[in-house]
Amino acid sequence: MKTRIAVMVSGGGTNLQALLDAWKSGQFNQAEISLVVSNQEKAKALDRARAVHVPALFLNPAQYKDRQAYDQQLLKSFQENKIDLICLAGYMRILTTVIVRQYEQRIMNIHPALLPAFGGEGMYGLHVHEAVMQSGAKYSGCTVHFVDEGTDTGPIILQAVVPVLDHDTPDKLAERVLIEEHRLYPRAVSLFCEGRLQVAGKRVLIKEKA
Ligand code: GAR
Repeated sequence: MKTRIAVMVSGGGTNLQALLDAWKSGQFNQAEISLVVSNQEKAKALDRARAVHVPALFLNPAQYKDRQAYDQQLLKSFQENKIDLICLAGYMRILTTVIVRQYEQRIMNIHPALLPAFGGEGMYGLHVHEAVMQSGAKYSGCTVHFVDEGTDTGPIILQAVVPVLDHDTPDKLAERVLIEEHRLYPRAVSLFCEGRLQVAGKRVLIKEKA
């Protein structure tokens, strides 16, 4: 049975593109990207999905009375499409327990910093890189983690480190981090599809290849 993957996006979708490219080049063992969902109608990410004939769904938050109702509809779409793994890739909304509880250890997120630092509410996109620059940290990076009921608090799967340079701007740092994101996310998804991720408390163990 193939692992059916849904990717959730809100913007440009370069991480989605990295996942699509990895899938198309055969990097995901027995998996397919079956659905892309966005809360933003104009998200370029939706075009990236359509370009390779992956169903791309826009769900308009304005049509639902609250986040729970929205997530109920999302959940319905995932269940109808028999989704096994949900990948958040620049999805700028926090998932409610409606989905998180149904998909425990089957939702991943990519975050543009080294968690547990520089995470939590309000920490997304350029805000993260601004905070890193202001802190004086010498290193930043990116983290792929499982999503739990907190914000950016779930078990860490993989991380990559990049230096923060003396004359960086948040934009330059974002660019350097993004290059690593595009390498890291497909690796994490591959490991999941190969059944090699095992969660032990807060730690994710990576099993040897069988
Ligand atoms: C990425 O840098 C991702 O890590 C970040 O948004 C960007 C999306 O870019 N996500 C968050 O900040 C979530 N907290 P993309 O649309 O080009 O993949």
